[in-house]
Amino acid sequence: MEENRIIPAHVSIIMDGNGRWAKQRGLERVSGHKEGRESVRACVSCAAKAGIKYLSLFAFSEENWKRPLKEVTALMNLLVESITAELGTFIENNIRVRVIGNIARLSPVVRSAISKAEENTAACTGMTLVIFLSYSGKWDIFQAARKMAADMAADPGREFTMEDFDNYLATAGIPDPDLIIRTSGEQRISNYLLWQAAYSEFYITDILWPDFREKELMDAIDEYSRRDRRYGKVK
Ligand code: FPP
Repeated sequence: MEENRIIPAHVSIIMDGNGRWAKQRGLERVSGHKEGRESVRACVSCAAKAGIKYLSLFAFSEENWKRPLKEVTALMNLLVESITAELGTFIENNIRVRVIGNIARLSPVVRSAISKAEENTAACTGMTLVIFLSYSGKWDIFQAARKMAADMAADPGREFTMEDFDNYLATAGIPDPDLIIRTSGEQRISNYLLWQAAYSEFYITDILWPDFREKELMDAIDEYSRRDRRYGKVK
């Protein structure tokens, strides 16, 4: 397949199934998240090598705040630990880190780890790794609409277009995802990139996130390469 492979500019992943992976093994849910972190490392490295320009990961949704405090704390600690531990590797590999979401809800410790990673990789020009944290698609559209409404009120003579609206989204400047992968077989968008996913190709696999590594990412890209993207037009 390699010769026909089309590398998408932006691959986005809804990482799902950590809890079930752990349950199948009689382990605590957090063990699934820890193993899931290894899949993150494998996919980041594989995506950078493959020439993907943007890899984005749905790491924690606004709805995930409703999980038991123990799990939320474990996930936040894992995120801080991972971002901090991998910072050197990101810089060495020219990977820029961006975190997008309702950052105000995060603790000062998490916010400081994020700022450090974003600041120290700001000049990296290779792949951009986008981590969606405390993110939801409805939140994004709502905050964008609010900001645009304020600008509209301040400048009643100006015409605002749909393209202008893109620039109010938290993802401004990042191309819409070409391919959205969801692991663990669930067939829903779960309040993820609602606006940005308008023409994304979806790839759903039964594989649980902790088992999703290089081969599985390449399988998804090969499937994407066979898709016929028409954007509603006739070819
Ligand atoms: C979904 O599985 C997974 C998450 C909500 C968290 C993903 C986070 C990581 C893999 C930690 C490391 C991340 C980074 C970016 C360094 P689930 O708990 O919903 O699984 P279930 O549906 O089987 O219960």
